[in-house]
Amino acid sequence: MRASPEEGKIFVPGRINFLGEHLDYNGGTVLPFTLNLGLTGCWETIAEPVVEIWSEGHPRRCIIPLRETWLHPPLDPWYRPAWAMLCVLVARYPGKERGFRLRISSTLPAGAGLSSSAAIEVLMGCVFAAVQEVHPELADVAFAALEAEHHHLGVRCGIMDMWAIVHGKKGYLTAIDCNGPSHKLVPFSTGPFQPLIINSRQPRTLAHSAYNDRRAACERALKALQSLWSVPYLAAALPEMLIAIPSEEDKRRARHVISENRRVQKAIVCLENGNFQALGPLLRESHRSLAEDYQVTTPLLDRLAEWANSQEGCLGCRMTGAGFGGCLIALVHQDALPTFRKKFDAFASTFSPPPELLDARPGEINFLL
Ligand code: GLA
Repeated sequence: MRASPEEGKIFVPGRINFLGEHLDYNGGTVLPFTLNLGLTGCWETIAEPVVEIWSEGHPRRCIIPLRETWLHPPLDPWYRPAWAMLCVLVARYPGKERGFRLRISSTLPAGAGLSSSAAIEVLMGCVFAAVQEVHPELADVAFAALEAEHHHLGVRCGIMDMWAIVHGKKGYLTAIDCNGPSHKLVPFSTGPFQPLIINSRQPRTLAHSAYNDRRAACERALKALQSLWSVPYLAAALPEMLIAIPSEEDKRRARHVISENRRVQKAIVCLENGNFQALGPLLRESHRSLAEDYQVTTPLLDRLAEWANSQEGCLGCRMTGAGFGGCLIALVHQDALPTFRKKFDAFASTFSPPPELLDARPGEINFLL
């Protein structure tokens, strides 16, 4: 990684997951890609041992000391991931206390489930490394971000978001084998079908506690299986094993994990063979499984998916990310796009706030200065 002790500029993308939801903490394979929407951070070093963050659109700056950082969580929740990451970094690099001023601007829609939290953490990790002249591997930045989420923000998320953000390349899906993690880049070519993002603009209330509950259900399901078979992680289990899970609810959660992992394996083969038509049913089936078995969709997400999936030229549409609000991803034939957009606007205007349609253009992490 490039180090610039004086000043610098970096772009850190958000990510969208094409397929493979709630698999990362179950050892499965996920298929995210990085977007051209993201955060741009500009920094300069300052004399005091503090990090001063200015974020566009936020009236107040946030000042975080580089000593006893954990005692100073910011009040504004937007700055929490940056603080959490700093808590991890100061513990990893004791004595590295050169202060800096960081200005952040964002093109990521807030709270939409496009990984703004992981993007802030990665941004902070890269800027901290540049200023302190330390040289972590990108994977270490991702692990530090994961630690920040678990230990300082109380979200027991998987590695997908941060791993995707540091390793994503324009034009590729990052196929992450989360039982590692390790990844390979799969060219993301969908022929005449364009990926689109539908932002429900539904606030993700209670998302953190419900997310942690789903993870706990998966852990219970795995334990039940492991009392009979040597299953290393839930995504590796076989559908025939589900019968061994005593709780009906845990069984449904596990059924989603097992079936979703199989869909991802199929999708990789389809993408590698240019058989993109076959991606449609996989996307639709993923949404159904997330709605019925994993139960992380909302009535609005279901309505949007149902609407999109019934439009001419839409190959498939599913919710993406953790769920409980946030975004959907759709593949729409380029010839059908103008009509799709027009009809979407009419449909969206019946909601308040109206959901929005965004182009899912690829981007990647980039040191601009
Ligand atoms: C959130 C988490 C990820 C992943 C997804 C669901 O984005 O941060 O780790 O579990 O939900 O696939």
